[in-house]
Amino acid sequence: MKKMLLIVPLLAVIGLVACKPKVNPNEPGSKLVEERCYRCHQTGVSTRGRTVAEWDLAVTKMIGKGAVLNPQEKAVLVDYLARTYPR
Ligand code: HEC
Repeated sequence: MKKMLLIVPLLAVIGLVACKPKVNPNEPGSKLVEERCYRCHQTGVSTRGRTVAEWDLAVTKMIGKGAVLNPQEKAVLVDYLARTYPR
């Protein structure tokens, strides 16, 4: 029974994501952009569409410049950017 309590909200979240390809401004990736990217990109980051691999490359480059992201945050951010600004 305890397992159900974990699985049900998880399914709800997955369902929400699956049905809503449009980006929710409250999702973690969006907050990460504000917190970690706006420090240098006050007017917002480049919104040119990129593939997942290209966003990964761009974010890796930004980490090299001083953006602070752990590997998990990076994965969330790349996923967010690739969905928000796809090619
Ligand atoms: C320490 C400052 C700094 C931070 C933090 C930073 N950037 Fe940048 N970014 C730059 C500079 C400087 C450039 C332009 C020079 C270049 O492209 O090498 C740039 C360029 C870019 C470009 C264009 C690069 C290209 O190859 O076309 C993208 C996209 C980008 N940043 C996204 C991000 C994202 C997303 C984040 C948050 C994870 C971020 N940046 C955080 C300094 C920063």
